[in-house]
Amino acid sequence: MYLEQIELQNFKNYASLSLHFTPGIQALVGENGSGKTNLLDAIHYLSLTKSAFNPIDQQNIRHHEGYFTIKGVFKRENSPETVFCGYEKARKKIIRHNELTYEKVSQHIGRFPVVMIAPQDQDLILEGSEARRRFFDSVIAQIDAEYLQNLLHYQYYLQQRNALLKTYYEQRQWDEDLCQTYDAGMLHFGQKIYARRQHFLQDFQPFFQSQYQQLAGQKESPQLSYHSDFGQTDIAQAFIKAREADQRLQRTTVGIHRDDFIFQLESYPLKKFGSQGQQKSYLLALKLAQFAIVRQELALKPILLLDDIFDKLDDARMQALVEMVSQQTFGQIFLTDARPERSLSVLAALNTEKQMFFIQQGKLNKTQIF
Ligand SMILES: Nc1ncnc2c1ncn2[C@@H]1O[C@H](COP(=O)(O)OP(=O)(O)O)[C@@H](O)[C@H]1O
Ligand SMILES: [Mg+2]
Repeated sequence: MYLEQIELQNFKNYASLSLHFTPGIQALVGENGSGKTNLLDAIHYLSLTKSAFNPIDQQNIRHHEGYFTIKGVFKRENSPETVFCGYEKARKKIIRHNELTYEKVSQHIGRFPVVMIAPQDQDLILEGSEARRRFFDSVIAQIDAEYLQNLLHYQYYLQQRNALLKTYYEQRQWDEDLCQTYDAGMLHFGQKIYARRQHFLQDFQPFFQSQYQQLAGQKESPQLSYHSDFGQTDIAQAFIKAREADQRLQRTTVGIHRDDFIFQLESYPLKKFGSQGQQKSYLLALKLAQFAIVRQELALKPILLLDDIFDKLDDARMQALVEMVSQQTFGQIFLTDARPERSLSVLAALNTEKQMFFIQQGKLNKTQIF
């Protein structure tokens, strides 16, 4: 599966753009601010129906315009498949696959998988647990449609329960039956999500370990573990026990919405004790393991989006990555670089089909095949 064509209208800094791609490496080069990352983000939209960076669709409309559209033509075993993503101010986002509009955009997830590696990945280490849950949820959702539905159900009960707690705080009226219904919903879907996250992590570990070793060598061992309130023996009791505190705080303090994934190196927290290089290796290993597991589960190679990847790497890691990329493991790759000559010299040695697109202020300046 690869992206053969993309057309943008009023997406971020692109008024109008149409590009054709080959199945190999697509290098997007241009000065900072020219629109390289925006183009990767448009591809992210086609795959995951949203931006990788800005969750507010409206802010991805080109300034002073009222809508954006992104059209992609993918090729899967030679037959073309079109994906359309359109958003108009104050309207519902529309996602179409081969001219058919989805009833729920969530139905699209997993059909055209992508893996994005970007400087923002460091948020996974630096930020709170929500960023990590979002990452793992997004990976699992790409390979398991039911998981996403379970998450949405859980979110529904959580929101209702929180609304109930708020009402109680403001009006001192308590509806015990309603609370029990919400607790039961959260327990039911929470249990499924917990089991899936646990199972996923078991499958993910060997991929993650081997990617880290390839990047950083045998000397260090990274740990990745999963912590959940659902790990305790009587989670139903924990909900009841937390009730008073929940009423005081007006939010639910127990549940899988508080799960965390713990990143460690040699049993020390990566955030505090990992060197910059170790942190980079850890993040790259997470993303490359994501690629490997999605590839295994869906039996197709995700499109790889590499944003300014060369900037983050020292020579040894860059070499290791380029060697990995040159193997048959990967399919189509989009990469951005503000320094064309660097990309040219790094990629020229590879045997793969490659194209370079020179982007300037939201326009294509020229294309070079090399
Ligand atoms: N909604 C928008 N409308 C117009 N321009 C935008 C919008 N969002 C971002 N931009 C512009 O896009 C440019 C950044 O593009 P980006 O893809 O990040 O560049 P780079 O080539 O450095 O990756 C900035 O000049 C920014 O002002
Ligand atoms: Mg950029």
